[in-house]
Amino acid sequence: MEVSNIKQVINIDERLTARINELLSHYPEDKKKSALLPVLHEVQDAHDNWLSVELQDRVAEILGIQPIEVYEVVTFYTMFNQQPIGKYMFEFCRTSCCAVRGAEDLMEYTCTKLGVKEGEVTPDGMFRVVGVECLGACGYAPMMQLGDYYKEHLTKEKIDAIIEDCRAGKVDLHKQAITE
Ligand code: FES
Repeated sequence: MEVSNIKQVINIDERLTARINELLSHYPEDKKKSALLPVLHEVQDAHDNWLSVELQDRVAEILGIQPIEVYEVVTFYTMFNQQPIGKYMFEFCRTSCCAVRGAEDLMEYTCTKLGVKEGEVTPDGMFRVVGVECLGACGYAPMMQLGDYYKEHLTKEKIDAIIEDCRAGKVDLHKQAITE
């Protein structure tokens, strides 16, 4: 399994513990493993978008399951990251509608502005820029996904503003989960 040598700061704080307990409350006491996927999402979201082996071990401990049962899920699904991927991942759609509306130029502009090539993480661990296939928002091209949100009708000015907001900690990456 691909693992990172970078030490991850693990912080299962009160808010995260309460959230995990809330998720677990939807499952029978002896079926905590069934909550593994939502719990992993929650824990990853709270840890800069990646799950070190140590953090996966903590999840196993919380759910009362074997670490291997967590590893096999994390290594199967591509939405779980075993390496730091940057706090803010800009996923630019580069499929037809976005392509004809300048997606490649915008990606290049963003990479140049951040001083990275596609796929690289900025040295401060903040940003990563990747190209993806159609995200189903073709009418809003050019667009990108940032966390759970779509940023649409992008322009260089909008990208400048998004980067600035990220740096200022003003960007919310995740929608509140609906649990009822
Ligand atoms: Fe970009 Fe569909 S082509 S969202």
